[in-house]
Amino acid sequence: MSAIPADLPLRSDLVGEEPYGAPQLDVPVCLNVNENPYPLDPEVVEAICRRVRKVAPGLNRYPDREHEDLRRALADYLKGESRACLGPEQVWAANGSNEIMLQLFQAFGGPGRTVLGCDPTYSMYPEYARDTFTNWELAHRLSDFSLDMDTTIERIKALGPAMVLVTSPNNPTGTPLPMENLTRLLEVCSQIRVAGAGPQARPIVVVDEAYIEFRDPGTPSAVSLIGRYDHLAVSRTMSKAFAFAGARVGYLAASREIIDAVRIVRMPYHLSALTQAAALAALEHTDLQLARVDQLRRARRATAEWLAGQEYHGRPLTVVPSASNFILFGTFPDRDAIFEAMKDQGVLIRAVGPEGYLRVCMGTDAEMERFRQTLVGVLEGS
Ligand SMILES: Cc1ncc(COP(=O)(O)O)c(C=O)c1O
Repeated sequence: MSAIPADLPLRSDLVGEEPYGAPQLDVPVCLNVNENPYPLDPEVVEAICRRVRKVAPGLNRYPDREHEDLRRALADYLKGESRACLGPEQVWAANGSNEIMLQLFQAFGGPGRTVLGCDPTYSMYPEYARDTFTNWELAHRLSDFSLDMDTTIERIKALGPAMVLVTSPNNPTGTPLPMENLTRLLEVCSQIRVAGAGPQARPIVVVDEAYIEFRDPGTPSAVSLIGRYDHLAVSRTMSKAFAFAGARVGYLAASREIIDAVRIVRMPYHLSALTQAAALAALEHTDLQLARVDQLRRARRATAEWLAGQEYHGRPLTVVPSASNFILFGTFPDRDAIFEAMKDQGVLIRAVGPEGYLRVCMGTDAEMERFRQTLVGVLEGS
C-alpha cells in the first residue's frame, strides 16, 4: 500500500490505516474467506440470467429502493430455514451483511455511543465503529471461546452500550451462542439504560448469524426470538452457506421499528436492480443453493478429526470446535511462517484470531485433500 500523501486532508484518525481485507491471490486452493467453494448449479445460473435480462431494459430507472419483492422472498426463506414468521417489514437487505452492520452502527452508534463486542471475533467490527465515530468496547471470551456471561453482563451494566454485538457461530472461532445465553443477554439489556441516549432507550442485541446455516440441524436460530424481543436484530448473509458471495447480499431480521430506523440511514437506491434480480432468482432455488451445506458440515467434522490427530514439534494440535464452515487450529509459535509456507505451495488459509492460531475454511473434497497433504509437509519441514 502506498502511503496517503500529507497534502490530502485525510481524517486524522484514518492516518496510517490500511484498507481491510484478506489477500486476494491467484492460488490453486483458496480457503481463506469462508466462502462456499462450489459454483452455482447451471439451473440457477439460467434463472439469474432470465431475471437479469428481464430488468435490463429498465436500468435507466432507479431500482425499488424498498426492495419489497426481495424482502418478501427473504422472509419466506427465513420461514423455511428457521421457522420464523416475519413480515417483509421485519426484513431488510443490503450489499452484504457488512453494509447491514454499518447501517446498524450508523443508526444506533455514533459519537457518545458505545457498542460492546466479545473478542476474539470478526475483525471488521472495530472498523464499523471507527467509521461511525462509535466507541468500541470488548468483553473477552473464555478460554474455550464461549461467551464469558458474567463479564459480558458486568460490561453491559457498566457501559450502557447502544448495541451488544454477538456472533453465532463466531468468526474466527466457530463457537455457537446457546439460546439460553442469548435470552439472558436480551433480558439484561431490557433493564439497561443506553449511555448517550434518552432515558427510555435500551440496548439492542445484534446477533451476527453470517454462518448460521452451518449449525447442527435442529439448533434454533436467533430469528425465532424476534417476535418475543423488540430489541433483537439478527444479521444474515447470502455470502456463505448460500453460495452467493459475489452478488453481495446481506439481510437483517428484526422488529419493524429497528428496520425503520435503519431505513433512515440507508443510501437512496442502495441495492441495485441487478442485485435484487439475481438474489430473487437464487432464492427461488434455495435447495440448489444450499445443496452442499451437508457435505461442508461433513468436511468440517472430518477435517477437525484429522487436525486433532496431527502434531507439531511433538505436541498435538489444538482444534477449536466449530459450528461453521471453518476451523481454527494451532497453536504455532510462528503462525505466519506456517501460513506463508502453505501459501507458497498454493494453499491460502488465514492467519487470524488469537495469537498462534490459523483458520482454514472448508473447500471441495479435492481442496481439502490438498490442504491436508500440504499441511503435513509444512509441519514436518518447519
Ligand atoms: C462474522 C461475519 N459477519 C459478516 C461478514 C460479512 O459478510 P458479507 O458482507 O459477505 O455478508 C463476514 C464475512 O466474512 C463474517 O465473517
